[in-house]
Amino acid sequence: MTTINQQAGAAATAMLGLGVHRPERVVTNDEICEVLDSSDEWIQTRSGIRTRRYAAEGESLLDMATIAAERALKASGVAAGDLGTVIVATSTHVQHTPAAAPLLADRLGSRAAAFDVSAGCAGFCHALSVASDLVRGGNAGYVLVVGVERLSTFMDPTDRGTAFIFADGAGAVVVGPADEAGIGPVAWGSDGSQSHVITQSVRCDELSPEHPLFVRMEGTQVFRWAPFAMADVARTAVERAGLTLDDLDVFVPHQANLRITETLARNLKLPEGIAIARDVQDSGNTSAASVPLAIDAMLSSGEAKPGDIALLIAFGAGLSYAGQVVRLPRA
Ligand code: UT7
Repeated sequence: MTTINQQAGAAATAMLGLGVHRPERVVTNDEICEVLDSSDEWIQTRSGIRTRRYAAEGESLLDMATIAAERALKASGVAAGDLGTVIVATSTHVQHTPAAAPLLADRLGSRAAAFDVSAGCAGFCHALSVASDLVRGGNAGYVLVVGVERLSTFMDPTDRGTAFIFADGAGAVVVGPADEAGIGPVAWGSDGSQSHVITQSVRCDELSPEHPLFVRMEGTQVFRWAPFAMADVARTAVERAGLTLDDLDVFVPHQANLRITETLARNLKLPEGIAIARDVQDSGNTSAASVPLAIDAMLSSGEAKPGDIALLIAFGAGLSYAGQVVRLPRA
C-alpha cells in the first residue's frame, strides 16, 4: 500500500510581531462634507468617526502593504527569506490577476507561496486563522498576514451611505511557532443570503472611468445584524479557546462604526476593565486593515501591551465573519 506522508508542524503558534502603515493625509469630516450632503456632527454621532486617513495620490495599496510588512518582519525578528507563505487580505487590489500577495512577496525579496483572501472586512481574521493552521500543519515555518485597503479609490464621494466611513491603511503580522499558544481556534462562518448588503461591482460595462467600481452598502442592515450575531460568534471564540470573558484583557472588534462596537460590547456583557478598541474614531473603517491597525493603536497608547489576551472579531461583506482569541504581539 502506498503511503502519503503527512507532516505535523508547530505545537503552538502566535503572532510574533506587528507592523502597520497609516497614510499621512488626515481627512476631516468637514473636508468630506465639502462634497457630501452631511455634517461633522451627524458623522460623529452616527459613526464615531472624527478623522480618517487617505493614501497620497501616488501611494499604492502595495506601497502601504510593503511598509506594514517590513515593520512586522522587523518586530518579529523574522527574515523575508524565511517566510513560507504570504497572505494578503484585501478587497481593493486593483487587479484580479495577479493577486497582491505575490507582488508583495517579490517586493520583500521572498519567493514564498502567496495568495489573497477576499472576505471583506473579515479578511484579516480569516487569514490569521489560515496562517496559524499552515504553521501548525507543517506547511509553512512562518506566514506573513497583511490586511490592506485603499478604499478611497472605490468610494463615491457623494454617497451618504459610504463616503464618510471607509478609509485607507495597512496592518501586518508574522505568524510562527511559539512556546505558548497565541492564536485560539477560529469561530467563523458566512450568510450569503445577505450578500446584497455590501457590494462592489465588477461588471465589465462598469469598467470605464465614468462608472468606477464603487462600494455600496446598506449600512442599516449591517447595523441590525452585526452587534447581535457577532456577540454569539464572540462567545463561541472564547469558549473554543477554553477561556471565559473574565480572562480577556482587550476587545478588538472590526472598526466598522463606534456604535456597533459599543452595542456589541454591551450585548456581550464584557466584564469591567477590558480595554475596547476605538480606532475607528481617527482611522475610519479600513475594512481588512482595521483589526491590526486597532491593535497597534492600543499598543501605542498603552491601553494594551504585548502578551495581553485579546478577543478579535471581524465581519463584513459576504456577509462573512471570523473571530479568535489571541495573545497580542509586540509592535
Ligand atoms: O465594515 C463593513 C460593515 N459595515 C458597517 O459595519 C457599517 C454599518 N452601518 C453603519 O455604520 C450605519 O448604518 C451608518 C453610519 C452607515 C448609517 O447610520 P444609520 O444610523 O443606520 O443611519 P440611517 O441610514 O438609518 O439614516 C438615518 C437618517 C435618515 O434620515 P431620516 O429618514 O431619519 O430623516 C437619513 O436620510 O440620517 C439620514 N442620513 C444622513 N444624514 C446626513 C443618512 N446618511 C446620512 C449622511 N449624512 N451621510
